[in-house]
Amino acid sequence: MSDAPGPGKGSAFDSANTEEKRSKHVTSSGGDVNRDSWRHLLGQPSNSKKSAATIIFTLKNEVGGLVRALKLFQDKHVNLVHIESRKSKRRDSDFEIFVDCDSEHEQLKELTQLLRKHTDVVEITSPHNSALLDDGSRVEGAPWFPKKIADLDLCANKVLMYGSELDADHPGFKDNVYRKRRKYFADLALNFKHGSAIPHINYTAEEVCTWGKVFRELNQLYPDHACREHLKNLPLLTKHCNYSEDSIPQLEEVSQFLMEHSGFSIRPVAGYLSPRDFLAGLAFRVFHCTQYVRHASEPLYTPEPDTCHELLGHVPLLAEPSFAQFSQELGLASLGASDEEVQKLATCYFFTVEFGLCKQDGVLKAYGAGLLSSVSELKHALSGEASIRPFDPVLTCNQECMITTFQEVYFVAESFEEAKNKMREFAKTLKRPFTVHYNPYTQSVDVLKDTSNINSMVKDIRHELDIVEDALSRLSKKQRD
Ligand SMILES: [Fe+2]
Repeated sequence: MSDAPGPGKGSAFDSANTEEKRSKHVTSSGGDVNRDSWRHLLGQPSNSKKSAATIIFTLKNEVGGLVRALKLFQDKHVNLVHIESRKSKRRDSDFEIFVDCDSEHEQLKELTQLLRKHTDVVEITSPHNSALLDDGSRVEGAPWFPKKIADLDLCANKVLMYGSELDADHPGFKDNVYRKRRKYFADLALNFKHGSAIPHINYTAEEVCTWGKVFRELNQLYPDHACREHLKNLPLLTKHCNYSEDSIPQLEEVSQFLMEHSGFSIRPVAGYLSPRDFLAGLAFRVFHCTQYVRHASEPLYTPEPDTCHELLGHVPLLAEPSFAQFSQELGLASLGASDEEVQKLATCYFFTVEFGLCKQDGVLKAYGAGLLSSVSELKHALSGEASIRPFDPVLTCNQECMITTFQEVYFVAESFEEAKNKMREFAKTLKRPFTVHYNPYTQSVDVLKDTSNINSMVKDIRHELDIVEDALSRLSKKQRD
């Protein structure tokens, strides 16, 4: 079936940003994840010392585990307001302990650290969640944000929707086999920890067939529509990561390929993350990727990002150093930013990384993954009939993102370099009272907010300049000789 999606049907798009609209949708449909629950995850600063929290954990398989876990609450003088055990939504065979509690910040923080040692903590939700995630280095006045790459373990599992549950209008909603398969993928992603290998997937014949249809259709359009960076990297992925219509590439191999080419790595994700959590991954050159395949009944349509979208749309661009740098800078600008500013950055992400166009040799080409993974929208955006404007973050950040129809406007950048420079200038206008610097040796961010850490950075820059000076001097000596 090669029925291409048109307006009224969605194209593939991404976790960041689009969730703002989708979370409204979930709220109105009474889904499990409501707007309030994810707003808590953004970390609301408060002066109150009292803290209420909901903690969900599973017990290790040992006699007396529950008694020991509850004793931790008693020892830390944390009041239990409500407790129940319930069947796990994540793993069919498990039971989870769901606890509402109320206590002082410090005691609650100590309790959660202890619980992490003795149980498997699945989720902590609190209006003061940042305090619970705090490792002692929270930047005053800013929402909690990850400081090192392993901190992504704390925020990468807060999936907003489509983890394993599907909306009623999802093509796979009535397909129990598909839903079971999606649950399998969701569990894999939820159990992933930084430093682990991404699980190998034995894709079914049906999944490979669906991927093959998408692969074939899109590859016919790429020569005329994709930007030169995409065209350059796709053959490399064919060679090194087994990209072909007969096989779905494995994320672990793709992640290793990206690491060698641009320093990016992949983290599997169960579904939508909040814009804040998604952009935070980019700050550490981590791209959250789905691993499941869209429903076989509509191979050229998906209401959510799937692995076809990630592998064909995003990965070829993420392998490009200039694009990787642009993506990381968007992520770094988001760390500790206000909700409003994160939304603006997420909108810029949407109209660049997802739906961006660029001009190459005077011709418009696509570099956005939402376009490069959607047959119909790719054709539409470059048909000459779509509205095109120059990329300018000040204006772009206010453009409405269309989720279920084609975009009303696309933004064109002269180059990634130009887009990066514009984003840099835009990031300087954000109100965040500090800036951050990424340390690639430790895969962590330094918060530059006082003279001592700025001096330390200046020393590093001087050292880098020494290397450049030495290289230039050797070069000129060689030319003289
Ligand atoms: Fe995407």
